[in-house]
Amino acid sequence: MSSRVQPKIDGLPPGTTLPPDHVYFGPSETMEAVRRKIDRAAGLNVPILILGESGTGKEVLARYIHAHSPWADGPFVKVNCPAIPGTLIESELFGFEKGAFTGAHTAKPGRMEMAQSGTLFLDEIAEMDTSLQAKLLHVLQDGTFTHIGGQDEKSLDARVICATNRRLHREIETGAFRSDLLYRINVISVLLPPLRERREDIPYLAEYLRQQFNQRFQREAAPLSAEAVHLLQQREWPGNVRELENCIARYVVLGSEEAFYGERSEKPARRPACETTADGNIPLKRIAQQATRQMERDLIVKVLQANQWNRRRAAEVLKISYRALLYKVRQAGIPAKRPRQKPERPGEFPNQLPA
Ligand SMILES: Nc1ncnc2c1ncn2[C@@H]1O[C@H](COP(=O)(O)OP(=O)(O)OP(=O)(O)O)[C@@H](O)[C@H]1O
Ligand SMILES: [Mg+2]
Repeated sequence: MSSRVQPKIDGLPPGTTLPPDHVYFGPSETMEAVRRKIDRAAGLNVPILILGESGTGKEVLARYIHAHSPWADGPFVKVNCPAIPGTLIESELFGFEKGAFTGAHTAKPGRMEMAQSGTLFLDEIAEMDTSLQAKLLHVLQDGTFTHIGGQDEKSLDARVICATNRRLHREIETGAFRSDLLYRINVISVLLPPLRERREDIPYLAEYLRQQFNQRFQREAAPLSAEAVHLLQQREWPGNVRELENCIARYVVLGSEEAFYGERSEKPARRPACETTADGNIPLKRIAQQATRQMERDLIVKVLQANQWNRRRAAEVLKISYRALLYKVRQAGIPAKRPRQKPERPGEFPNQLPA
């Protein structure tokens, strides 16, 4: 029987209704620092730059800042820079007057106007081309902008939050990003760490997401077993929280922890013990021995199956002595005979070693 872990989560009593844009800060030192910084800066009209790999939660953090700011009653307007074609992004941002360019049959407000009294979230800002970066810098410096083809100055009365998963200093070196714009948007910067660097948050995040998905899908998926939590903590999570979120959604929908093992067949009992010891060491010799033993066991079972559990024949195929095979079978806890419940399937495995 697997033990159940139900982490205590501050401020999240069971059954709480969670807003869809909620961000969960884990107990890790880095996320605590992020929370402290945000709580101090959210109320002031200073630009905030959010950095972090894809899926680390830059957008949920931007929405959280908005929700905890004096502009919370205003709109949250997102500009997804890479999603808007280069030629359109300027008119999308600034708006335009009738006749400003071919096809401008009527005047249209831009996102800067739509964000008045709220938050303007410029997502993936490094994707903006440098000429538009210069225009944006102008707006941020003066606090005013004009429609394309217009004369009237309008004031930008919105908190600006920018985000990127690029390393802006590298982009500046290559000339793809303007350093003066970086200084302007970088009054407060927040770096969201990748999930692999805050593994202690994983049990809490997983539990938080389980509760969210249970609510959303009207399910009652149980808290995760200690083994499953341990498995999740071992992973590298290249897709960060987004990947973990998908994993937990799959668990809640399927209602089984098999969802965590996926196609990679990572059941804890079958994994080579690739784990650190309490002192943080990774004992290569021990891990290699365990992996070799596991491989040997799998192979012996396959060859025994292929030879109808005739151990003499299996020893010949494996090119070891009969005694050596008996020893290994005993050591690995392989049943001496074909297990009854398994139907015989001749030809399942060729009568020789695989190439
Ligand atoms: N701290 C968190 N608490 C709860 N959910 C989170 C958290 N961080 C991320 N998520 C979830 O992970 C997913 C990815 O988050 P988000 O879109 O904010 O990441 P991102 O950094 O903007 O990614 P990208 O760079 O790919 O746009 C979202 O569905 C979000 O709900
Ligand atoms: Mg994003």
